[in-house]
Amino acid sequence: MASHMQSLMFLVLVMVTLVINDTNAQLSPHFYDKVCPQALPVIKSVVQRAILRERRIGASLLRLHFHDCFVNGCDGSVLLDDTRNFTGEKTAFPNINSIRGFSVVDEIKAAVDKACKRPVVSCADILAIAARDSVAILGGPQLLYQVLLGRRDARRASKAAANANLPPPSFSFSQLVSNFKSHGLNVRDLVALSGGHTIGFARCTTFKNRIYNETNIQPKFAASLRNTCPRRGGDNNLQPLDATPARVDSTYYTQLLQKKGLLHSDQELFKGLGRESDKLVQLYSRSFLAFARDFKASLIKMGNLKPLTGRQGEIRCNCRRVN
Ligand code: HEM
Ligand SMILES: *[C@@H]1O[C@H](CO)[C@@H](O)[C@H](O)[C@H]1NC(C)=O
Ligand SMILES: *[C@@H]1O[C@H](CO)[C@@H](O)[C@H](O)[C@H]1NC(C)=O
Repeated sequence: MASHMQSLMFLVLVMVTLVINDTNAQLSPHFYDKVCPQALPVIKSVVQRAILRERRIGASLLRLHFHDCFVNGCDGSVLLDDTRNFTGEKTAFPNINSIRGFSVVDEIKAAVDKACKRPVVSCADILAIAARDSVAILGGPQLLYQVLLGRRDARRASKAAANANLPPPSFSFSQLVSNFKSHGLNVRDLVALSGGHTIGFARCTTFKNRIYNETNIQPKFAASLRNTCPRRGGDNNLQPLDATPARVDSTYYTQLLQKKGLLHSDQELFKGLGRESDKLVQLYSRSFLAFARDFKASLIKMGNLKPLTGRQGEIRCNCRRVN
């Protein structure tokens, strides 16, 4: 009787473990260690080459990971092309004429599938790894972290979710906070992750209202931006998000202290009111190490948003379309 009971308990335990593994498997830094130990070094070398070709691409790759994770989780959905019978996320308002880096993702995918001799690395993981490597290449070893892996790729995408869930630059502080909260991220994550804007560029149209209509901006800074971003036209003219757009450093935060945030949403993080976010901006501007520590932690948190794992989804052969 007792032994019957024991085997029954054992069976239940095995079944529960199987169910957990299938539906809620954890990401792990060692996911590819056995199946393809070359995967991470190969990805890093392609990212390195791409950044040497064009410094901005590191920023573009980081942003792709963000725009992937904030729309139904980190599942590679942002990479799917539109076709006649499929509408993806690329034409959603926050993405159209804006996100870039897809050909580098294709290049990484081809190189890693070749090195592994079969498609074992998901497109969602490629984005997480490329983002991590870009940040470390542009910012130094303090920014390296163990990237969690094992995400699988979605067979679907949602343009409506991309429009609804990605924060626009017009958002107020409280709108930003509640948007991040809806993704399970707190104020510290918001302030640290906005530090993504320590690299890369923005189009004139995304900060035009700020430089012509707002007062919470340093006057000389606004005046100089009006030269590259005219009141009418020039919508695609580019401006660096901080003064050092190819370096992950504290300049983004230092500029916020001086009212030199480029986007409305950037300056919302610092208003000198002594709030938590003001204090974090001050901390990160003073201490690159504090920023590096929190940026890494928040990137890992962001990378954990609703991944597909186990037998969910698939490993795409081509990041632009479902298998
Ligand atoms: C807090 C809310 C955020 C808002 C409102 C926002 C908004 C924007 C906007 C409007 C642009 C310029 C887009 C264009 O010119 O078309 C941009 C660029 C960028 N964003 Fe954000 N963003 C946010 C958070 C983040 C996060 C969390 C990351 C990554 C951790 C990130 C990384 C980037 C990067 C790297 C660029 C430059 C991309 C490039 O040069 O290709 N942003 N963002
Ligand atoms: C779209 O149509 C093509 C060709 O008819 C088909 O092979 C494919 O499976 C369809 N895709 C989706 C997502 O329904
Ligand atoms: C400034 O604000 C006015 C009133 O809201 C708006 O109509 C105008 O388009 C804004 N100017 C720019 C350059 O965004």
